Amino acid sequence: MQKDLIKSSFSSAAETYDSVAEIQNLSSYELVNLIEAPKISTVIDIGCGTGNTSLELYEKFPNAEYTFCDLSDRMLLMASRKFPKKANIICCDAESYEFKENYDLAIANLCVQWFDDIPKFVKKIKNHCGEFVFSTLLDKSFSLYKNCFDIPPTFDYPSAERLLNSMGEVKKFKTKSYSLEFENFFAVARYFRRLGANLRSTKEQPAVKILTKSPIILDYEILFVRV
Ligand SMILES: C[S@@+](CC[C@H](N)C(=O)[O-])C[C@H]1O[C@@H](n2cnc3c(N)ncnc32)[C@H](O)[C@@H]1O
Repeated sequence: MQKDLIKSSFSSAAETYDSVAEIQNLSSYELVNLIEAPKISTVIDIGCGTGNTSLELYEKFPNAEYTFCDLSDRMLLMASRKFPKKANIICCDAESYEFKENYDLAIANLCVQWFDDIPKFVKKIKNHCGEFVFSTLLDKSFSLYKNCFDIPPTFDYPSAERLLNSMGEVKKFKTKSYSLEFENFFAVARYFRRLGANLRSTKEQPAVKILTKSPIILDYEILFVRV
């Protein structure tokens, strides 16, 4: 996956992300509730974005030491400005970065779907943390949205089964669905631009006709995992 494109897309959305991150915030809430470790002194938030997951965590673990990790320096800046205490910063591609420290908890909310190899990353980060919780988009995401096109775009999000079977021991998982309704296709495009998550199609698409004018439902299917 082209990390430079992912980075520039999220960097240009750093200031608008919070105004549209409703689903991401609901997902943060679910993910934080999946944590089991009772005592957490050190946390790394991978793909921290503007820091909303860490803010949610801070309510539970205000005394922990926080490390923010993201590809985008502008996202990291937003996260540091908002956070009530000083956090360590790692600006990197978490997939290729050699983590040096160990953490009681690693958390990644709606970030790993941008990775090339999720199971490989899970194996790597597990060597550096006591507990890892993450959420990611599943193959059923955007199925209603895809129906809006005569030639539907294709995305390569994995099925829950494929992903869970390709990892080592999974301690707990759950799935949840969310949806947003938009007036028209332009509103969907604006939403993605503000979020920085321009939807990637896995193949070059021929020109497509939009079949549905309104409303357009954007449906998310999210997997939450603790390993
Ligand atoms: C959808 S946002 C989620 C942000 C945040 N976790 C939240 O819940 O609001 C995804 C974030 O992951 C970051 N990201 C994507 N690929 C990454 C990678 N390979 N390494 C580090 N961060 C990455 C993006 O820059 C972006 O800030």
